[in-house]
Amino acid sequence: MQNSALSARFHALHGMAISLGQLAMGYFTNRASLGISMKGDQDWLTKADGAVEAAFRAMIASAFPEDSVMGEEAGGEDAANLWIIDPIDGTANFAHGDPLWCVSIGFVHKGKPKLGVIHAPAMGETYLAQVGKGASLNGAPIKAAATTDIRRASIEAGWSPRRPTSAYLGLVERLFAQGASVKRGASGAMGLAYVAAGRTDAYLETHINSWDVAAGLVIASEAGAVLNDFCSGNWLMEGNPILCVAPGLAEIIEQESGISL
Ligand code: IPD
Ligand code: CA
Repeated sequence: MQNSALSARFHALHGMAISLGQLAMGYFTNRASLGISMKGDQDWLTKADGAVEAAFRAMIASAFPEDSVMGEEAGGEDAANLWIIDPIDGTANFAHGDPLWCVSIGFVHKGKPKLGVIHAPAMGETYLAQVGKGASLNGAPIKAAATTDIRRASIEAGWSPRRPTSAYLGLVERLFAQGASVKRGASGAMGLAYVAAGRTDAYLETHINSWDVAAGLVIASEAGAVLNDFCSGNWLMEGNPILCVAPGLAEIIEQESGISL
């Protein structure tokens, strides 16, 4: 892909995310409009999820008609120029009135993530990155933490009902045993953004979907975090484990998590 074509998409990304964030905020600030339903146990859906994804699909059809879209709500398939959207990541938080949620959009060219935006309007935060050009938060450069001692580390371990809770608890126990403080914020995309901003020292989860991390892969790696090879196997349709870690803790967290870097 020519640099100019990638730049055109990068420049469009910020504006699209801001406008989708406004749409989502309309629902978030009017709880009567949420229309909450459950896709399964602890798998939340609101009217905002479908509305944001549909609006994004219309934006791409108009601005880049040759591109394809894959989204959490309406699916999609692989293509040379592929936008991957999680319309609301952290839907459980969104449904509970907790501001830790975001619109997450990645752009992937021939299987390689190139652009990412994570826009968290209720937090007033926009994380943006283009491969080779660094990562920013609200326009200022960001960098993963310099932590080297796991006894000072703050680590987020993601959980979903897709994997046994016993395995999750085992992982959390091993990290605590090494002296880490372990938390869960309930938005995988924000989890990667927090590692990129140096607020959290690592994010890990034994299974996560492509739409949760497509943007965060670019943002965190441009901020200097170390990541596993998420884009392997059938990552797009089936997801993979994710490990995203500050460089000084990569070895020990790889060892404790069993997720290879
Ligand atoms: C979930 C969140 C959660 C992560 C799960 C995701 P959703 O997405 O990102 O933090 O642990 O793996 O499925 O349901 O909020 O869009
Ligand atoms: Ca999600």
